[in-house]
Amino acid sequence: MLRVALFGAGRIGQVHARSIVESGEAELAWVCDPIEEAASTLAGKYGAKWSPAPGDAIDDKSVDAVLIASATSTHTDLMRDAVLAGKKVLCEKPIDLDMAKIDATWEAIKGSAPFVMLGFNRRFDPSFREVNARVKAGDIGRLRALRVTSRDPQGPPAAYLAVSGGMFRDMTIHDFDMARYFLGQVTEVSAVASHNNDPVFMGANDHAQAMLTLKSADGVLCTIVNSRTCAYGYDQRLEAFGDLGSLEAGNMTATTVRASNAKETEAAGPVLNFFLQRYMPAYKAEFAEFVAAIKEDREPVVGFADGRAALVLAEAAIESVATGKVVTVTRG
Ligand SMILES: NC(=O)c1ccc[n+]([C@@H]2O[C@H](COP(=O)([O-])OP(=O)(O)OC[C@H]3O[C@@H](n4cnc5c(N)ncnc54)[C@H](O)[C@@H]3O)[C@@H](O)[C@H]2O)c1
Repeated sequence: MLRVALFGAGRIGQVHARSIVESGEAELAWVCDPIEEAASTLAGKYGAKWSPAPGDAIDDKSVDAVLIASATSTHTDLMRDAVLAGKKVLCEKPIDLDMAKIDATWEAIKGSAPFVMLGFNRRFDPSFREVNARVKAGDIGRLRALRVTSRDPQGPPAAYLAVSGGMFRDMTIHDFDMARYFLGQVTEVSAVASHNNDPVFMGANDHAQAMLTLKSADGVLCTIVNSRTCAYGYDQRLEAFGDLGSLEAGNMTATTVRASNAKETEAAGPVLNFFLQRYMPAYKAEFAEFVAAIKEDREPVVGFADGRAALVLAEAAIESVATGKVVTVTRG
């Protein structure tokens, strides 16, 4: 059994605790969070040790791996300390908001045979994964375009927005990774965005809506449509379009029941509300890949370089909004 320390007992930390204990392959050894009540409550639920200080778990020689699900600004220091102590790392997105900090972290760890997997969970969603596998198997001939729709049900609180790094680094980062998953290297980014005159987004100098167009090194196009709010739930869809047809993955509802009556036809229940409901199978599959890659002594399918490349695309989108120009990217 892999002994795992979890850093961060917030929204996503609680999801990962469940993936770890339900994996059957790992044991939740520690939960660390400076908010003592959060750490002790989550640790108590699963019989783990807890501490306000991640260093306690990093110093524990019996810990094999750490899962970093803490606030973004803490990721790089925790990753560096864990890798240098010989731990395998699964780190939530984004690695950090600052490219210089990301590169300094890589410099500090690259000589220590780092095993770092990035938490781009959407690569592990069964539907998106199947679309990707069928594109790669040639089911739609040559891929020409990808359309990604990604809308959150409600905007984050102002306090979160203030430290999030903005929509492109915090939210679109998943879609940039999805684009890279299908297209490989992205070489052009153009973006338009709007705060919708909403004082919350205006106050944070952030966006409520964005539309982006990406182009890959071999000419495949991708559109990304983002919104921070969506009245009908967590809108997560994609379509791959190729010479021989298309493949689509749609939204999910809790059941398959459809009602027809005088006012509506084939009416379904609401779309699954947010990431916990929509992506739970993906978080579990993500953790299974983490364990499998460690066991098989190979690189994880999504790693540090993918985390960096997604941030390169976020920086390009920010520049495109500011300049109104298409931005050419290298290392995207
Ligand atoms: N992949 C996904 O679907 C997904 C979803 C949500 C959040 N995230 C990412 O996960 C991270 C956490 O987001 P969240 O929504 O859970 O935030 P959150 O605010 O709910 O929880 C973060 C927790 O980290 C704790 N923390 C702060 N410093 C720490 C430290 N040094 N060591 C240990 N814990 C520390 C905080 O006290 C807090 O309890 C962010 O980087 C976010 O971008 C990913």
